[in-house]
Amino acid sequence: MQKNTYPEYALAALLCLSGSMNTVSANEPAPDQTVAAIEGAFGVTPGERRNHIKGTCALGEFVGTPEAATYTRSALFSSKPVPVIARFSLGGGNPKAPDTARSVRGMALQFKLPNGKLHQMAMLNTPVFGAAQPQTFLDLMLALQPDPATGKPDPEKMKAFKASHPDSAAQGQYMAANNPPSSYANSAYWGIHTFKFINKKNETILGRWRFVPQDGEKRLSEDELKTAGANFLEQALFDRSQQAPIRWDMVLTIGQQGDAEDNPTIAWPEERKQVKVGTLTIKSVMAQKGAACETINYDPLVMADGIAPGNDPVLRFRSPAYAVSFGKRLSGQ
Ligand code: HEM
Repeated sequence: MQKNTYPEYALAALLCLSGSMNTVSANEPAPDQTVAAIEGAFGVTPGERRNHIKGTCALGEFVGTPEAATYTRSALFSSKPVPVIARFSLGGGNPKAPDTARSVRGMALQFKLPNGKLHQMAMLNTPVFGAAQPQTFLDLMLALQPDPATGKPDPEKMKAFKASHPDSAAQGQYMAANNPPSSYANSAYWGIHTFKFINKKNETILGRWRFVPQDGEKRLSEDELKTAGANFLEQALFDRSQQAPIRWDMVLTIGQQGDAEDNPTIAWPEERKQVKVGTLTIKSVMAQKGAACETINYDPLVMADGIAPGNDPVLRFRSPAYAVSFGKRLSGQ
């Protein structure tokens, strides 16, 4: 089996690990404590991601629209094709989780910009997140720890978690009301957090984005949930890519005064202005082992000039948490 060779910037990521720690404020849990809780909930597969472990790689490109330049000077939207290394995934750290699981689906993108610059996104198929604070995420992982007697999470602990963490409700309700997708190609993906978009005149707007599938959104029916089996998503995406390129439109929502900036569990009003700012085209799909996406840390704070993070504690916390998981898998743990 090919030893997964991590690119040189992996060491850089490790080296800046100490630096990135300072994005965590005093009253927040420690990133390594949170990753340990993820491991407690799902177990550890050496050398693999601690979360979103089950995934598929893909390659493609992104082309921005001219309208995007009104809001941002990012090279992402130069209207020239930008190469993309993508990864589609199932939430959680269980490599055997079935593709019918009522959990989140992820799409992560690494954009290869001119001059070796990178821009990264790691998105979910839910318009909001299940935690307004890193502490809620940690408390969820602790509530998910399997009961030694049953090997399953204790339903009483889950009930107590939900009762004491109202910020987890909105995402839970969305997932309860929407069955998992029948294919990664038939799912929308949201960046969820609020970001700052800065244009050439240094004007800044608050924005949120999502990727809308040109194939349309399709969800498993109740029957398919019973019959689809545990492993169909990778093959479905591969088969679809053999027919023709797979496309998503990137839609930017423009925030207004008072819209939530620091809370990813609160959606913005539907009537906000929306602008199509680009199209992602996936051209080839492959298994993760030995492929380009396997050795990428899709840290969402890796951003090129023109887009910057909003003041969101969960977004800030993700970077050091990903670095902990990445560091462990980099060293084969
Ligand atoms: C406190 C909040 C969060 C924590 C602690 C957390 C933790 C993690 C960890 C440890 C990984 C594996 C990283 C690696 O080994 O490379 C991961 C992957 C991922 N997370 Fe999060 N996460 C959080 C919030 C979010 C949010 C809000 C989103 C979406 C907006 C998200 C989307 C993803 C995706 C798509 C991946 C897979 C990336 C890939 O394919 O490599 N996560 N998360």
